[in-house]
Amino acid sequence: MDGLPPSNQATHFWGNTMEIHRVSAYHDVEHALRITDLKQSLYDEGKILMDKVLVTLHGDEHRQRRSIESQLFRKNFFRVYENEVFPGLLSETLDQFLTESSLDLKELGYRIMVHLSLSFAGIDRIDGTVEEADAQHRLLIQLGQAATIGQFKGDREPIFQEIREAIDEFRERFFLPSRARRLALLEQYRAGTLNEEELPRDILTILLMHDAELSMPNELMVREVAFFYLAASHTSVHTLVHATNELFNWCERQGQTPAEVVADAHQLQRFVLESMRLHPSSPEAWRRAEAEITLADGRVVPQGDKVVVDLQTANRDTSVFGEDAAEFNPLRSVQGRISPAGMSFGGGMHVCLGMNLVAGTVLRDGEFPKPDNHQVGTITLIIKELIERGMRPNPNQAPQKIEASERDVWAIYPVLF
Ligand code: HEM
Repeated sequence: MDGLPPSNQATHFWGNTMEIHRVSAYHDVEHALRITDLKQSLYDEGKILMDKVLVTLHGDEHRQRRSIESQLFRKNFFRVYENEVFPGLLSETLDQFLTESSLDLKELGYRIMVHLSLSFAGIDRIDGTVEEADAQHRLLIQLGQAATIGQFKGDREPIFQEIREAIDEFRERFFLPSRARRLALLEQYRAGTLNEEELPRDILTILLMHDAELSMPNELMVREVAFFYLAASHTSVHTLVHATNELFNWCERQGQTPAEVVADAHQLQRFVLESMRLHPSSPEAWRRAEAEITLADGRVVPQGDKVVVDLQTANRDTSVFGEDAAEFNPLRSVQGRISPAGMSFGGGMHVCLGMNLVAGTVLRDGEFPKPDNHQVGTITLIIKELIERGMRPNPNQAPQKIEASERDVWAIYPVLF
C-alpha cells in the first residue's frame, strides 16, 4: 500500500494486484460516471438474473436497448401517469392494505411499490388477492438477492437455487399471462383496431413492440422485466421511509405540521429531493476500467482495476452543498447546474431511467415549475396521500434502523393513521 493515496486499496486478483480507486468529491463523481471506458461491475456476481439486463450492458448494446426502452416516456407519459394511472394504482393498494390504524410504513411502502413497479414493468395482477400480492412481494425479495450476492460471504449455492426457482415462478405465474395479453393487444394495434394510446404503458409492451430490433431471447426478456421490477421497488421504499422521517423531524423542529407542508406539492417535492440527496438508495456505483483511464484528480487507473464511485459522500460535499451539507435543509439553495437530489440517480450512460417517475421534474437553482408541465414524482404523491389520510409517527414505538448494516436502512418505521 506504500505510496498509494489513502483512498486506494490493493487486493489480489488471480495473483495480480488489482487496485480499488475510490472517487468521492462531487465533480469527480460526475466526471467518472461519464468515462465510457468504465464498465458497470456492481452486479458481476449476480449474472443469474442480471446478465445482459440494461444496467449491466455497455457501449452500443446498452445505447440501443436504452433508446428503445426510453420510448416508453413518449407523448405525455408522465402527465398521463401522474393524473390517470398512478391515482388508481395507489388507491387500490391503500384500500386493500391500509386497514389498520397502526402500521409499519416500510411494509406499507412495499405493498404500494410492488403494485406500482409491476405495473410499470408490465406485469398484471391476475386475481388481485392478498395471497397474490404476498407472492409478488416474496418474489421481489428472492429475486433481489441477485443484485446483492456479490457482497454475501457465505455459501451461495442455496441462494442461487432460490433465485432460479423465483425466476421460474415469476415467468410461469406472472410473466407469461402478461405477455399473452399484450401480444393480443399488439395484434389489434397492428390490425388498426386499437390506438397506440390504448396500449399499456409499460416496459414489457415496449419490448414486445420492438421485438424484431431487439431480438431478445425469451429468458432474457423475463429477466429484463424482473430487473425493472427490482430497480423500481427497493429504491423507492428506501426513499419513501427516509423522506417521511425527515418530514416528521423537520416539522417537529420547525413547529410546522406535516399537513401544512404537503398542502403544497412543490414544497413537499423539495423535501423529498433533499432527503434523496442525504440518503441515496444506491450509495455506490462500481465500475471496472476496460482500458487505462484518468480520473478528474489526475489519478491514472490501469485497465482491469475497479473504481468505486461514492455517491453518498459526493452528496455531502461541502464545496457544493455548503458547510451544512450533512444536515437536512429543504430550503437549501445550490448554485450552478446541480440537482437538488445530488448524484443519487447516478449520471452518464446509466443515469436512472426511472428518475422523473419517482422524483418528478427536477429543477436546478433559479428554475421555476411550469404550472401545466411539472410533475412532482411518485414519492411526493404517496407521502401527500398518506399524510392527508392522517399518517403520523407512532409515539409508543420508535423506528429502528438495520443495526448490522453499515448502510442507512430502516428496519421498521411504525406509524399511526
Ligand atoms: C428513489 C428511487 C431511485 C433511485 C435513488 C435510483 C437510483 C439509480 C441509480 C443510482 C442508477 C445508476 C446505477 C449505476 O450507475 O450503476 C439507476 C439506474 C437505473 N434505474 Fe433507478 N433509482 C430509483 C428508482 C427507479 C425506478 C422507479 C425505476 C423504474 C421505473 C428505475 C429504473 C432504473 C433503471 C432501468 C436503471 C438502469 C439504467 C441504465 O443502465 O441505463 N429506478 N437508478
